[in-house]
Amino acid sequence: MHTVLEHPLVGHRVALMRDRETPPKLFRELVNETTTFLAYEALRDIRTRRVEIETPVAKATGERVDEPRIVLVPILRAGMGMLDAMLRVLPYAKVGVLGMQRNEATAEPVPYYAKVPPAKDGAELAIVIDPMLATGGSACDAVAQLKKLGYRRIKFLNLISAPEGIAKFEECHPDVPVFTAAKDERLNSHFYIVPGLGDAGDRIFGTL
Ligand code: PRP
Ligand code: URA
Repeated sequence: MHTVLEHPLVGHRVALMRDRETPPKLFRELVNETTTFLAYEALRDIRTRRVEIETPVAKATGERVDEPRIVLVPILRAGMGMLDAMLRVLPYAKVGVLGMQRNEATAEPVPYYAKVPPAKDGAELAIVIDPMLATGGSACDAVAQLKKLGYRRIKFLNLISAPEGIAKFEECHPDVPVFTAAKDERLNSHFYIVPGLGDAGDRIFGTL
């Protein structure tokens, strides 16, 4: 399942992120804000429990998030740009990281680091974050690593998806829902998303 956020507040931010004149400070803020919208949509089915509370006026029932074992998994390096926003909405989440670098010539993902706590019983919810779904290689490999560690409940949040990446990811992991802020036209001959926003890591970290 691939959900594209259709909302003017998201579209506005995506357009600003695409703009080559947008400097890293503003770009990071836009990534943060857009990630909050992605989290809002992706976490609609998060587990909650009913609680009894007393307002200053009356007794009431409410709900509390009841997901004691959420693990946020940014894919290094660009995924780090989405982490702060995720930790704001899920302050008790754990964080595991996966290092992945695309081979510039082939776009094959090259894993170089992994520090993710293993799942204990499959009840954990792992949320993979990475701004770009281009060929889909990095996301497919990241989720495969999580499955090997025992994760059964996994979601993937990203900013821009290429149709090629969506197709590949659906083939690799049809059980993992994807939430994206924009679905773009295609990949170019260098496996960059068109129109995209360029190299997300460079835009976030100012390394252009
Ligand atoms: C980017 C991006 C994804 C990957 C997407 O990372 O953040 O991880 O490319 O491409 P794919 O779908 O074709 O695998 P990159 O390898 O540029 O590394 P960086 O985050 O360190 O800049
Ligand atoms: N990674 C990026 O950062 N941008 C793209 O367009 C493709 C992969």
